[in-house]
Amino acid sequence: MANDQRIAGSPRQQLAKLFEESLRLTIPDELDIDPAIAPCQNPKFGDYQCNNAMGLWSKVKGKSTQFKNPQQIGQAIKANLPSSEMLDGSSIAGPGFVNVKLSGQWIAKSLPEFLQSIQNMLMDGIETWAPKLSVKRAVVDFSSPNIAKEMHVGHLRSTIIGDTLARMLEYSNVEVLRRNHVGDWGTQFGMLIEFLFEKFPSLEVVNDQAIGDLEAFYKASKLRFDSDPDFKERAQRAVVSLQAGEEKYRRAWAEICKISRTGYEKVYEHLGVELEEKGESFYNPYIPNALELLNKEGLIEESEGARVIFIEGKKIPLIVVKRDGGYNYASTDLAALWYRLNEEKAEWIIYVTDVGQREHFEMLFAAAKRAGWLPADDKAYPKASHVGFGLVLGEDGKRFRTRSTETVKLVDLLIEAKSRCKTALIERGKDKEWTEEELDKTAEAVGYGAVKYADLKNNRTTNYTFSFDQMLNDKGNTAVYLLYAHARICSIIRKSGKDIEELKKVGKIDLAHPDERVLGLHLLQFAEVVEDSCTNLLPNGLCEYLYNLSEDFTGFYTNCQVVGSAEETSRLLLCEATAVVMRKCFHLLGITPVYKI
Ligand code: ARG
Repeated sequence: MANDQRIAGSPRQQLAKLFEESLRLTIPDELDIDPAIAPCQNPKFGDYQCNNAMGLWSKVKGKSTQFKNPQQIGQAIKANLPSSEMLDGSSIAGPGFVNVKLSGQWIAKSLPEFLQSIQNMLMDGIETWAPKLSVKRAVVDFSSPNIAKEMHVGHLRSTIIGDTLARMLEYSNVEVLRRNHVGDWGTQFGMLIEFLFEKFPSLEVVNDQAIGDLEAFYKASKLRFDSDPDFKERAQRAVVSLQAGEEKYRRAWAEICKISRTGYEKVYEHLGVELEEKGESFYNPYIPNALELLNKEGLIEESEGARVIFIEGKKIPLIVVKRDGGYNYASTDLAALWYRLNEEKAEWIIYVTDVGQREHFEMLFAAAKRAGWLPADDKAYPKASHVGFGLVLGEDGKRFRTRSTETVKLVDLLIEAKSRCKTALIERGKDKEWTEEELDKTAEAVGYGAVKYADLKNNRTTNYTFSFDQMLNDKGNTAVYLLYAHARICSIIRKSGKDIEELKKVGKIDLAHPDERVLGLHLLQFAEVVEDSCTNLLPNGLCEYLYNLSEDFTGFYTNCQVVGSAEETSRLLLCEATAVVMRKCFHLLGITPVYKI
């Protein structure tokens, strides 16, 4: 999907050409393989690595007489690399990764072009480094809590990860439809509405004060539902009346949704996340048509009184109409998928939920492929992707809960992170240096940033342990450390007493010192990393990049004197370029940068 035109010869682009040749020689039967080139995970091994061996191995396994394991493919890729002045050696690591080091000679030769690219970025803004993706419009379906149930930590993960993916796509000039697919249309509404009528015979008095805690309200009504068969029957009838659109029921439903919404909107406001609610109820009118289309394609069958779609390789079919004739989660998702493809004309539809829903989405996408709504080829567009994430664990290794309640309330977590940061700042005497507003803003930026970064820095598919102590540590790979590192760079520039805007116009960057080169090359990888994080839907790649950038900066700053040196102008510009890129990383991760510490 890449259309890499930023600089004529970005290192990765040129390496890709070399590896393309090697791949063609290594596996002549697989000609449509794109070289997978990424910055080296461990800079000790080299600058870039080629990750194709494993994927190729899964294609030739059992068929090839030449290769017995992925390492051997890696060896062959390495051996078949055409000789080039660009490379200063290559090596094999793990199951066939080919690491390469760029030669000093080539870097020196390419330097003018690199310097120009950095200089342009400084003059015209970081937008000049935006990746170019071939997708024009995408839907990101994220957050998506369920009405009347409290948003829990899983929804926090979905909100944070979804927002970052949306931001990265937006930066890459994709129009993103941010969709909150709230659960506002389940059978639970019959129960809730009936309970509401019981407690408040006149709807006029219903408001959030009257209902109080909606979660408690949900629990009380569930108790009633499970213990009183009469109530249960009335609740089931209420669902039918609601779905038939009876005024009284619609109003009660709308009231409950409204109260729930004020709760989660507070969370979005805290997190600075924008998204548009198009809940399950929105797609309800589209279900019959979507199912009819699938029926015409011969996909829908009768099974045990329900209407279902069988999916190859799955034991249980996807139920699209329940035995009682009602629709369910899957019917809604089919209609939503149809709507997004046909009405919203999205080319990429991305769903962010816990990995527990993987099966649901696999079946959904498989059904859509059978119906011809999505192409069979996973690389082709329009495309649907499930972005699954693991559980949030407490420090005891169990599912994250607080002592008093069963689930953790999101807002409380954010408030606690902020207040811990504020205490730490006060301990460092900042309350005497700063205004109350500055103190509050900084505590908020660092506290919320810490919660987000702790989540995003892990590969999302793994479980992660929620620990305030860890995420608020000012050393190591945390937002606190990174925000402070950024503020330190800003203070170097401030203390130089130079007008950086003026320097941008008249000054030139030079990367003479080895540590300057390391930093400069790392800066130039920014766009590639964002592009990869978009393509793989893995924001942790960007976090890793940001952390390494700040390490490279430390290396540079330790070994290269900035203020008062002969190279002061160039080095101040390099500081500024680092700060600009760091700020863009923060922005993409939904973190507010701070400028003072
Ligand atoms: N409301 C669901 C939940 O809390 C998530 C919805 C995800 N989006 C979708 N289109 N199914 O688990």
